[in-house]
Amino acid sequence: MKTDSNRRLRIALSKGRIFDETMPLFEAAGIRPSEDPEKSRKLILPSSEPDVEFLIVRASDVPTYVQHGGADLGVVGKDVLMEHGAEGVLEPLDLQIARCKLMVAGFPDTDLDSNRRFRVATKFTDCARRHFAGKGRQVEIIKLYGSMELAPLVGLSELIVDVVDTGSTLRANGLVPLEHICDITSRLIVNRASMKIRHARINEIIERIASAIKPVP
Ligand code: ADP
Ligand code: PRP
Ligand code: MG
Repeated sequence: MKTDSNRRLRIALSKGRIFDETMPLFEAAGIRPSEDPEKSRKLILPSSEPDVEFLIVRASDVPTYVQHGGADLGVVGKDVLMEHGAEGVLEPLDLQIARCKLMVAGFPDTDLDSNRRFRVATKFTDCARRHFAGKGRQVEIIKLYGSMELAPLVGLSELIVDVVDTGSTLRANGLVPLEHICDITSRLIVNRASMKIRHARINEIIERIASAIKPVP
């Protein structure tokens, strides 16, 4: 996709957690959306800066928009970025928001070292495949799009791979974390071509956001 240097800079964000936690950072860069995406049905929101607009997309679509130049910048969880792959995309900032862990979970009596072929329900199929291959374990991956914690309860799988924060969703469903895959935070990503063409403005935004990032407590 062609990047037109005269149009507004486009920043792809998902509603909810990422939008809420990202706003203080964009405010530090002087960029505020004109409307609350939770109240508006608009998918392109102008901002307080005439040369910047926000695109409201699904969390898992943010890397696709940025990779293909539909958006110049985006904010995305490292889990989604690892699963999608980061080709054509720069990752200049760890925003230290939406902090969680990618984990293997299941019933408390699960013996991960047994030789059985576990079924693993997850939306992170590539990450899960890589993790289990790295451990030399045979698994069957079952793709889901959400509510992974349900799968073991109804016998769809023995294990899940999902993000865990407080652990309360696992607990509420009688599951426990079994293995830590990696720590997750959200990242600012930038289209490579946009970075070349609109270097000065994008760098200014990156630097202002960087100065507002709260370091890990
Ligand atoms: P989705 O609708 O795709 O689940 P979310 O807004 O729930 O989107 O999640 C966006 C990102 O926030 C995820 O990719 C992950 O990095 C992070 N995340 C997801 N769940 C949690 C959580 N419970 N606590 C903290 N961060 C989370
Ligand atoms: C996420 C994730 C877990 C839960 C983990 O779901 O998929 O189910 O949070 O957080 P916890 O350890 O603090 O319980 P989310 O709230 O994003 O729901 P959704 O993705 O199914 O809409
Ligand atoms: Mg979610």
